[in-house]
Amino acid sequence: MITQDQLPMLAIPSMNDNHLEEILLIHKLDKVARANDIKAVAEVLREYVDHSIKHFADEEKLMREADFPDYLTHKGEHDRHIKEMGALIKYFDKNQDPRAIYVHIEGGLSPWILHHMQTMDSDAAEFLK
Ligand SMILES: [Fe+2]
Repeated sequence: MITQDQLPMLAIPSMNDNHLEEILLIHKLDKVARANDIKAVAEVLREYVDHSIKHFADEEKLMREADFPDYLTHKGEHDRHIKEMGALIKYFDKNQDPRAIYVHIEGGLSPWILHHMQTMDSDAAEFLK
């Protein structure tokens, strides 16, 4: 699980706020998945994707306004993540398997998020400030 002290402190406060909210939602998702609460997993998965869509749109707006040179690469990673979450939701709705969710959080989602924040988001925040 990603902990708050693992989050890079970026120069753009709104990005830090979004990142903290994001990891709290992932903690919530992990908790309901481990508790085998199918209904709550379905809800929190959607809540998490909605948050990601909004959080990425905020970041992308800042990058576009500043003519950030790596905008397209960065947006490509965001789009890939949203697509992957869409596939995960589809899989979950069909199979109702909470274990797949917490396994994915541990093995795929958390490492990706941490890496994305430490590399692409840090570079973008450095440019934006
Ligand atoms: Fe990002």
